[in-house]
Amino acid sequence: MSKANFLPGNIGLAPMAGVTDYPFRKLCLQHGAYFAFTEMISAKSVIINVKINEIYFPRQDEKDRVGVQLFGSDYAELSEAAAIVQEKGLWVDLNAGCPVSKVIKKGAGSALLKDLGEFRKVVRAMRSVLKRFTVKTRIGWEKDEFEKIYNILLEENVDAVFVHGRTAKQMYSGKATWKIYNPGFVPLYISGDIYTKEDIKNAMEQSGATGVIVARGSIGNPWIFSEIGEPNCEQRLCTILKHLEYLYDEYKDYGAVVFRKFVAGYTKNMLGARDFRDKVMKIRKLEELSSEFQKFFYENCYKQGFRKEQKISDILNQTCGN
Ligand SMILES: Cc1cc2nc3c(=O)[nH]c(=O)nc-3n(C[C@H](O)[C@H](O)[C@H](O)COP(=O)(O)O)c2cc1C
Repeated sequence: MSKANFLPGNIGLAPMAGVTDYPFRKLCLQHGAYFAFTEMISAKSVIINVKINEIYFPRQDEKDRVGVQLFGSDYAELSEAAAIVQEKGLWVDLNAGCPVSKVIKKGAGSALLKDLGEFRKVVRAMRSVLKRFTVKTRIGWEKDEFEKIYNILLEENVDAVFVHGRTAKQMYSGKATWKIYNPGFVPLYISGDIYTKEDIKNAMEQSGATGVIVARGSIGNPWIFSEIGEPNCEQRLCTILKHLEYLYDEYKDYGAVVFRKFVAGYTKNMLGARDFRDKVMKIRKLEELSSEFQKFFYENCYKQGFRKEQKISDILNQTCGN
């Protein structure tokens, strides 16, 4: 029998450092993601100064749907940080998957999988202080050891497991496997190479997982979470303008720089996208970015059959609502 699942649904936004900030989480949650994670936060830095990490923590309006992901290597440190986070009423996820060299050099992220005995100690220590505790892992350090990892997580009674179907050594090369060990005793969410709704279906079928978490496939494409079909040109523009608005609320004009990593995704397969990207990557004001996107989308949408006499403001009023 599988244990009860506190997560509110089967599709979530995966944790991504530098991407899953409050504005992007808010957008994805509005577009149908049931839950999300913060960017990974260092356990050590939470202990030293929790205040400077406040900007990374979930906000009031998303509190029950966003997990705080901690990374670290020392079980005492990780459990102390976890207790601090829990005080705020938040759930905690352990990062046991990051393969980036500056993280693994310190024995954190996927380096926790090098010695599964030590890994168990970390998981046990965190579990002992946490009410809601999940772990995000890879299938192994250099070979597929997911059966062992799964059994440790099951025995240590974690609430849910998120698994990226690659070893740490693989980094992002090759294809992620969705055929993983999954006897179904603990809620399990699969991650890796999920870019379309078809991928979601196939990953769920092949893994028998409870659900999926989407990372790269959501960048500039929050519609991957929605149950309705592909958005039309106007709906796409509305989402982009919303994203820009949330970025402004969070960062003021620095949001224009933060937005750059989303531009390619938002303009994928559009006519003239290459020139447009070159132009907007230099913009440093969100208002200017917004007006460039409106012009560009108007041109593209018009080519897709808009009536010429329609004004962009009318289109936005009709489609974006509010
Ligand atoms: C830019 C970027 C940042 C990431 N940061 C994190 C992170 O902070 N914590 C984590 O557990 N995984 C992180 N990941 C891994 C993803 O959550 C995910 O497991 C991986 O990218 C595979 O899924 P995908 O093929 O859908 O991208 C990151 C991935 C990317 C691309």
